[in-house]
Amino acid sequence: MAFVKDVKRTHYCGDVRPAHAESEVVLMGWVDTRRDHGGLVFVDLRDRQGLVQVVLDPASPATQVAKDVRNEFVLAVRGTVKLRPEGMINKNLDTGEVEIIATECEVLSAAKTPPFQPDDEKVSEPLRLKYRYLDLRRPRLQQHLIVRHNALMKVRQVLAGKGFIEVETPILYKSTPEGARDYLVPSRVNLGRFYALPQSPQTLKQLLMVAGMDRYFQIARCFRDEDLRADRQPEFTQIDIEMSFVDAEDVMAVNELLAREIWKAVKGVDLGEIPRISYYEAMNRYGCDKPDLRVSWELKDLGELVKGSGFQVFDDVVDRGDAVKGLAVPGIGNYSRGQFDKLTALAKQMGAKGLVWIKSGEGGELTSPVSKFFSAEKLQEIFKAAGGETGGAVLVVADQFDVTCAALSLLRTHLSHELGAIDTSRDRFLWVTDFPLFEYDTDNGRWAAKHHPFTMTADDDVSVLVNGKENEFGKIRAKAYDLVCNGHELGGGSVRIHQPEVQQAMFNALGLGEEEVKLKFGYFVEALGYGTPPHGGFAWGVDRLVMILCGTDAIRDVIAFPKTAKATCLMSEAPSPVALEQLIEVGIKLSGTADKEK
Ligand code: AMO
Ligand code: AMP
Repeated sequence: MAFVKDVKRTHYCGDVRPAHAESEVVLMGWVDTRRDHGGLVFVDLRDRQGLVQVVLDPASPATQVAKDVRNEFVLAVRGTVKLRPEGMINKNLDTGEVEIIATECEVLSAAKTPPFQPDDEKVSEPLRLKYRYLDLRRPRLQQHLIVRHNALMKVRQVLAGKGFIEVETPILYKSTPEGARDYLVPSRVNLGRFYALPQSPQTLKQLLMVAGMDRYFQIARCFRDEDLRADRQPEFTQIDIEMSFVDAEDVMAVNELLAREIWKAVKGVDLGEIPRISYYEAMNRYGCDKPDLRVSWELKDLGELVKGSGFQVFDDVVDRGDAVKGLAVPGIGNYSRGQFDKLTALAKQMGAKGLVWIKSGEGGELTSPVSKFFSAEKLQEIFKAAGGETGGAVLVVADQFDVTCAALSLLRTHLSHELGAIDTSRDRFLWVTDFPLFEYDTDNGRWAAKHHPFTMTADDDVSVLVNGKENEFGKIRAKAYDLVCNGHELGGGSVRIHQPEVQQAMFNALGLGEEEVKLKFGYFVEALGYGTPPHGGFAWGVDRLVMILCGTDAIRDVIAFPKTAKATCLMSEAPSPVALEQLIEVGIKLSGTADKEK
């Protein structure tokens, strides 16, 4: 009788329990560790569900292979489940109350000495990524993939229950702008032409609404050639959603339900109602549009208070109508000048010209580099207005609103991590609404879409867009909303433009010429003219969602085969050079620099 062919696995290693005592089991898995003890060999056998201790007698012919097995060998074991004696119970192991006394054992597959032991935490990330299949043997990473599966199963169940239809859209397609560069694919049969991989299925899902599909969703792969960070990958997955005959409230309601159901299913937590604030309020209070509400610190306006002190920097900024804001941080009143210099350098990274600090000693006395400009009472007043506490400090930046916000927001994030001031006991959600429709692209001297070019304006602002009043574009609000969790933008969406003339006005506002619009989006604008329902939608970043659910801070930890920060796969060495014939077939000749980079 051969294992696998005739003798089948009866249990997962990690699932054996005292209830199975005295019964015979057949297990198959990897050798996690092997210990030789006075003639007996103890093997921890591991599979997806966990590991269990197997006791083998190398003197017995049926289990003699125990002599030769090494870590990561794949074994099949038949044996009897025994309760461990009282003193031998391992409380750290789900299977710690039992062990398997093997009656038969076969090596299904030998293993070379692996470049690292899966559970060795000291191994460098590049080595792990090169041998990702070994890295994925770590229970933690397997658990992440299981959480990912469970979350997406829930999503499909909830959305299908609400009448959403899952539709697949093409990967070989045309540019779908979401603010990144496209990944291009050359066409062999149409020489000189290129597909673009979708940055999102945005136009396609809108066309499904034109088609009358009413409620669509897709677990969609998206591709964006952009600078990568800890929470960004060049290809990533969205839960992409679109609905017809809806306004912003309806879309937010469905997604809030989804958030609640996912958290209930995966974490057993009731999220309650998700608070909402406008984009402007988020900027004003936290300095960013994705604030981490697990940190309680807020920015405070100090313009009125610091006015006319004679400290030129503040006076100029107040005179110009720009922003002076303070952030109170508890517990850093004992920071040295050097430590405040480091914080100043951080503020400068965001474009601030400097950072004023006011620190409080244990007795409440205040010290500041600008104290000579303010009376002791005034300094106290400023300190208190910013929310300063004894033993803490207030950090002040004066600059244009955006710069002041960006600098203090970075300090808020940095210091909350450094000081451990994040309340990790629960996930904190937030809707951010009423985004501006445009942001000014100073590099190119034109307006750019804040969300994407298909986003509708607030009802009162349509005429500003349609009449092309460029000097008022900065004030137009969008029907756009982001879902933020723990300081991450988990998802975003909007009500869409469904009138061809408004869409055309939007393209005009973005400085796209008539020819360019026709070339890039002609088919789309034409479609809007054939009877388009009012519609709106949303997309979640699945990788970020799972990252938060798993409590990790790297998106790579929840993707089976992720890319590096340089967008490479260390395991397969993609992207890689291709044969000259392949290039000729698609009509591509590499320039000298590209040749060299190979
Ligand atoms: P947006 O561009 O905001 O909207 O993307 C939606 C969500 O996708 C996730 N995300 C990413 N995750 C990992 N790596 C990346 N490089 C990356 N880029 C984005 C984020 C983000 O919130 N079509 C619109 C949605 C809509 O309007 O319906 C869109 O793609 O979590
Ligand atoms: P200075 O007058 O340039 O020596 O600056 C005095 C203090 O003000 C230093 O601590 C600077 O970092 C700080 N400072 C300068 N410009 C700004 C600004 N725009 N906002 C906040 N602090 C600033």
